[in-house]
Amino acid sequence: MSAPAHVAGGGEGRPRVVVTRRLPDAVERQLVERFDARLNATDAPLTPRQLADAMRSADALLPTVTDKVTADVLGVEGRQVRIVSNFGVGFNNIDVAAARANGIVVTNTPDVLTEDTADVAVALMLVVARRLGEGERHVRSGAWTGWRPTHMLGTKLSGKTLGVVGLGRIGRAVARRAHHGFGMRVLYYDPPVAAETGRAVGAEPVDSLDALLAVSDVVSLHCPATPETRHLMNAERLRRMKRGAFLINTARGDVVDEAALVEALNAGLIAGAGLDVYEREPDVPAALTGLENVVLLPHLGSATVETRVAMGERALENLTAFFQGREPRDRVA
Ligand code: 8YV
Repeated sequence: MSAPAHVAGGGEGRPRVVVTRRLPDAVERQLVERFDARLNATDAPLTPRQLADAMRSADALLPTVTDKVTADVLGVEGRQVRIVSNFGVGFNNIDVAAARANGIVVTNTPDVLTEDTADVAVALMLVVARRLGEGERHVRSGAWTGWRPTHMLGTKLSGKTLGVVGLGRIGRAVARRAHHGFGMRVLYYDPPVAAETGRAVGAEPVDSLDALLAVSDVVSLHCPATPETRHLMNAERLRRMKRGAFLINTARGDVVDEAALVEALNAGLIAGAGLDVYEREPDVPAALTGLENVVLLPHLGSATVETRVAMGERALENLTAFFQGREPRDRVA
């Protein structure tokens, strides 16, 4: 195949797995032990053509958020791949309907990254509300002239209201931290989620997104990226947020209309934003990088050694189950 520098794991007769990016060493070792694994030594993202070649030459694909596993890729002539084991809980990089139509199984890696991603959401709230990124830049630039009572005053988080959009695993972990750690009042908008589920993590349901936006000092997004949630936070919804409120996004860039966010920030409709994800990663518009009241991270939600190893092991567990003829634990299609 023409994928870049794919290192063969050897082992005839074992299922062939194309792994699209470098994974932690411990995971790559296990992949090579269990499968005829084709690793990506250069870590360069695969082109659409290389992805299509992988679909023809392997039994399984282990992609990640940077791989667009489109209907064209999934439906390529001569396709051999029977399972796409995604490295990541979010799977909006995969056309799940096309996978289903082609009889291809899709799995993801939930649970193992919940706590780390919630930590990053809370970190973004603190860093943006307390102006810590700005402060760090201030010290490094040599501009600091000394302590004074009115220097770089931020916004207190303790006791304020957090609005959680989507009370799934990560939303619940954020609610728990905010309520029990910071004494915040936590509201959530997620119609199918029962009030008892919210109560267990110190969160109260609200009937509409607009009601949540109207009263929240911080709004944190934890819904999946689907056609329904695309640009959920558009110009109108941003306008419905409280003046002085902050928007946090550790979900997917698609959930926020980035151009509308820039306008809302410039117009002072909201006080700031903390972002780990973007509409066109890795492009972050200059209109955002030029603002002091935004905190910008390079999609680090699950980026700890422990969690990236656990994600890899979960992807491996799904592959192992599939090739042993069992139902993979994290099947999403
Ligand atoms: C991953 C994430 O790092 O799991 C997800 O959905 O966004 C992150 O935890 C990334 O997606 C790698 O696939």
